[in-house]
Amino acid sequence: MISKQTIDKIFSTIRVEEIVGEYVQLKRAGSNYKGLSPFHDEKSPSFVVSPSKQIWKDFSTGKGGTAISFLMEIENFTYPEALRHAAKKYGIEIEEDQKDFSEEAKNAQSERDLLYKIHEIANDYYQNFLWEVEEGKAIGLSYFKERELRDDIIKKFQLGYSPEKKNAFTAYALEKGYSKEILEKSGLSIFPENTPAGVDRFRERVIFPIHSFSGRVLGFGARILKNNVKTAKYLNSPETEIYHKSNVLYGLNQSKQAISKKNVCLLVEGYMDVISLHMSGIENVVASSGTSLTTEQIKLIKRLTENVTILFDGDNAGIKASFRSIDMLLTEGMNIRVLLFPDGDDPDSFARKHPQEYVEKFIDNEAMDFIDFKAEILFKDIGNDPIKKAEAIRDIVKSVGFVQNALKREVYLKEVSNKFGLSEQSLFNELDVQRQVAQNQNQHIQQQKEAAAPVKMEVVPLDEGKEDPFLFEVLFMENKLVDHMLMFGDIVLKRKDDQDAEYQITVIEEILQHFDEEHYMFLVKGNEIIINQVKEGIQNDELRSGNFFVSFMDEEITSKVVDALLPLDDLENWASRNIYPPNYGDKIAEQVKGDVLLHKYRYIDYLIKQTANELDEYSNSDPVKYFELIQKITLLKQASMRLSDIIEYSPIKGIYGNRKR
Ligand code: CTP
Ligand code: MN
Repeated sequence: MISKQTIDKIFSTIRVEEIVGEYVQLKRAGSNYKGLSPFHDEKSPSFVVSPSKQIWKDFSTGKGGTAISFLMEIENFTYPEALRHAAKKYGIEIEEDQKDFSEEAKNAQSERDLLYKIHEIANDYYQNFLWEVEEGKAIGLSYFKERELRDDIIKKFQLGYSPEKKNAFTAYALEKGYSKEILEKSGLSIFPENTPAGVDRFRERVIFPIHSFSGRVLGFGARILKNNVKTAKYLNSPETEIYHKSNVLYGLNQSKQAISKKNVCLLVEGYMDVISLHMSGIENVVASSGTSLTTEQIKLIKRLTENVTILFDGDNAGIKASFRSIDMLLTEGMNIRVLLFPDGDDPDSFARKHPQEYVEKFIDNEAMDFIDFKAEILFKDIGNDPIKKAEAIRDIVKSVGFVQNALKREVYLKEVSNKFGLSEQSLFNELDVQRQVAQNQNQHIQQQKEAAAPVKMEVVPLDEGKEDPFLFEVLFMENKLVDHMLMFGDIVLKRKDDQDAEYQITVIEEILQHFDEEHYMFLVKGNEIIINQVKEGIQNDELRSGNFFVSFMDEEITSKVVDALLPLDDLENWASRNIYPPNYGDKIAEQVKGDVLLHKYRYIDYLIKQTANELDEYSNSDPVKYFELIQKITLLKQASMRLSDIIEYSPIKGIYGNRKR
C-alpha cells in the first residue's frame, strides 16, 4: 500500500488544472477554468476546474472531485493506480507500507500493476536491443534507416527490435523474477507443454509499442522484416487485462496535443503512416491499426476535437468497408472529411515524397466531404444503370441521416439534391423512412441499455421519495446545513444565551448541536458519513472542512462536497440549470440560524405527517398506542406553531422573503 505520507505529498504537489488539462481543453473563466465535459457529449461547456480549491465538477453528469478522482474516471484507474500515475508525472517517489488489505483486491491490483510493469520492462528491452546490441543494430535499426526514419522519431515512438533467439525476452524476464504466469498473461511469452523455457511471442521483428492516452505501454505491434515471408506482416499483442484493442488508438499519446491545438485529427490506417507524418512535422494523427473504428475510439478523439479527416491509400481495397466508420463518426457528432491519396500512395509514402507544407496544403485542398467521397466511390463502376444509381443515392442519404445536428443535416441534404438533380422533398421523404427504421432499432437498443444499467443508489430511504414534498423539504434543508458546515465550518459566530450573555460558537458546532438536540436521523447517507467524520475530527482536535472530504473516495460524498465548495456564481447559465447562487455576503450568522430553524420546522412537519400515517394503522387495533400517537402529534404541532412564530417575527425572514413551502 502507498504510505500516507506519499499520498499527502501527491495531493499537495499535483495541480488539478494540469492533470485535467491533458484531457480537456480548458479556458479561463473568472477564477476558474471551463471546458467541454469529457464524460458527456455537449455543445456548451459545463465542466469546471477550480485551481484555488483544486477540484473539478462536471455539471452535465454531476461528477466531481480531485485530480486523482479525475484520473480514476477518465483512465479507469483504481485509486492506487491514479496515485501512481500522478506521482510519476510529478516525479514523486512512492513509499509503500504494508497494511492488511483484502487479499483479493491486493492480488487484482498487483496483477494489473505487474502487467504494466512487464510491458515497461519489455519496452526497454526491445529498445535497448535496437540501439545497443549488434543483431538489433544490424537488422532492426538498419530496417528503420532503409525506411528513412530519423533517430529522434525512432526514439519518440520508442521503436525497438525483438531478437531472433526463441526465448530471449522470456529468459530475461524470468531472470528478473517475473513469473511464468504473468508473462503468459501479458501475451509476451508462451509456455507450450514441451518447452518449459518458454517462447517469445515477438521474434526477429521490429517493435511498435502501443501506448494509452496517458503514455503507458499497453501492448505491442511487431512487423516482420522480409516482405516475402508467409507469416502475417504484423503480429500484435493479444487482448489482455490492460490491452483492449477497441479502446486504443495508435499514436494518440504522441499526437494529442497537436490534435487539440489544430482542432482536427487525421485518421490513418497504419503504424508507419502515423510515424511518417510525425517525421514530416504533421503531428495531429492517429491510426486505427487496420481494424474498423469503434465508438470508444471516436470518443477518445472527441475529447480533443470534433473534426476528423480520414486519409486513405489510393488503391485501398477496403474503402467500402470504411463507410461504416463514416456513419459511426457522424453518429458521434463528428465533422468528417475524407482524402484519397493518388494511386499507389499511402500517407507514409506521400509524406516522405513531399515537404510538410505541400502535404498540409494537399490535405486541406483535396479532402472531400463525405457526400462527395461516397458518391465518387459508389458511382465509379455503375455506369448508367438507373436502379444502381438510385441505390447509391439511397446509401448516401442514409449517411446524411446519421448527422446529429438538424441544421447540418438539412444542408447536406440540399447538397445531395443539387448534386444529383433530385427534389429535396423526395430526399426528405427517403430520409424520413430511413429514420423511422433506425429509430425503432435505436429504441430497442436504448431499452436494452437501460435495463442493463446499474441502479443508482437512492439517497432517500423511504418509498415516497422525492414525490413527498414534506420529505423533500427536510432533505433540502439537511443538505443545506451540511453545505454550510463544509463551506464556513470554522467561522465563529457571536450568539446570546437565554440570560442575554454573549458566547462564541463555530458554524460547525452550532449545526452539530442542532442535529444532536433533535436526535436527528439523516436522510442522506453521505451526510451522515460527513457528520460522523466531523465529530471524530472535533474529538481529535482537528478541523475537518471541505477539502478534507474531497479526498474521500466515496463518489457520493466527493461530489456533494465539490458541489458545496464550487462557487456557483462563476458559472454562466446557472439559472437555466435551476441552480441559484447562495446569497451569503456577511449574513452567514443569520443564514445559519435561519436554516437551522427552518430545518427544525420542516423536520417537525415531516414527523407530524409520519405520525399521522401511523395513526391510521392503529385506529382500530390498539387504543393505547393510538392515544400515544395523538399526544405526540399534539406536542409536535405545538412545537411547530412556536417555531412558525419565531420564523415569522425574526429578522431572518428577510433572507427568505415570502418563500412558499
Ligand atoms: N495490420 C495488422 N496485421 C497485419 C496487417 C496490418 O495488424 N497482418 C495493421 C497494422 O496496425 C498496420 C495497419 O494494419 O499498421 C495497416 O496495414 P499496412 O498498411 O499493411 O501497414 P503499414 O503500417 O503501412 O506497414 P508497412 O508500410 O510497413 O507495410
Ligand atoms: Mn505502408
